[in-house]
Amino acid sequence: MSVPLLIQTSINKSRGETAGQVKKFRLSGKFLMRKAFVAGNWKMNTDSQGSVSLADGVACGSMDIAGRSVDVAVIPPFVYLQAVVRALNQSHIAVGAQDMYYEEKGAFTGEISTSMLKDAGCIYVLCGHSERRHVIGESDELVNKKVTAAISGGLLPIFCVGEKLEEREASQTNEVVTRQVKRGLAGLDVEKVSAVTIAYEPVWAIGTGRTATPQQAQEVHAMIRKLLGQMYDAQLAEELRILYGGSAKPGNAAELMREQDIDGLLVGGASLNADDFVAIIKAAV
Ligand code: 13P
Repeated sequence: MSVPLLIQTSINKSRGETAGQVKKFRLSGKFLMRKAFVAGNWKMNTDSQGSVSLADGVACGSMDIAGRSVDVAVIPPFVYLQAVVRALNQSHIAVGAQDMYYEEKGAFTGEISTSMLKDAGCIYVLCGHSERRHVIGESDELVNKKVTAAISGGLLPIFCVGEKLEEREASQTNEVVTRQVKRGLAGLDVEKVSAVTIAYEPVWAIGTGRTATPQQAQEVHAMIRKLLGQMYDAQLAEELRILYGGSAKPGNAAELMREQDIDGLLVGGASLNADDFVAIIKAAV
């Protein structure tokens, strides 16, 4: 089974030189880098045939760069995970799940554990996606339990945060995102947090066609990175990847990823079309 060539597992792990877009920075005289990462969240879309042909199309179109110059993941519905893992077997594209439960096994009807997801071939798992927070009603505390269990179970969480429109309009963006980050990562030490990718997804930009401007996104990403520096240390803050999500598409991907603190994209709608998603992956290189 293939895995992405570069997976963040520990901040102490040395990073290989890559040809793609990396954010390089200097810290205490050392050069460090963040490799670009593009993930496609298929949400509640596709079917058994469509999920495999979409995976094939993405693998085909990004063959020369996926896993090398840019880390790539697709995040299908649970029932298609194994078929998609099989379809991507010869590629360097990782597969992630859209959610998980924090208990390992037992009487939790309808839920799915980290070991089941690993068994199915998952590398990543989304935790705290805004649709789970606001449609299903997940709290920061529940999201924290999921992030913690994901790391303990050997999955790499993509931990999502983001403010609602009324919160942005009331100038509460920083306050809301700060609270989500602090509560979502509560109790995790620097080593564990190094397994996390953060995704900033302003709720008002998701599925609306209304993308945050690169400057709006960059401001929040920089704020999150500063916060991580306060919560942990400067190295962790510089090494952790922070993705943007919310109406990302081929036409705006490059300008978003050009920003200093935007290390990649978490793509919804545009990841359902192989050509569009491949174009976004290419924009990261
Ligand atoms: P859209 O790209 O469709 O706005 O969705 C973003 C998202 O929620 C990805 O997780």
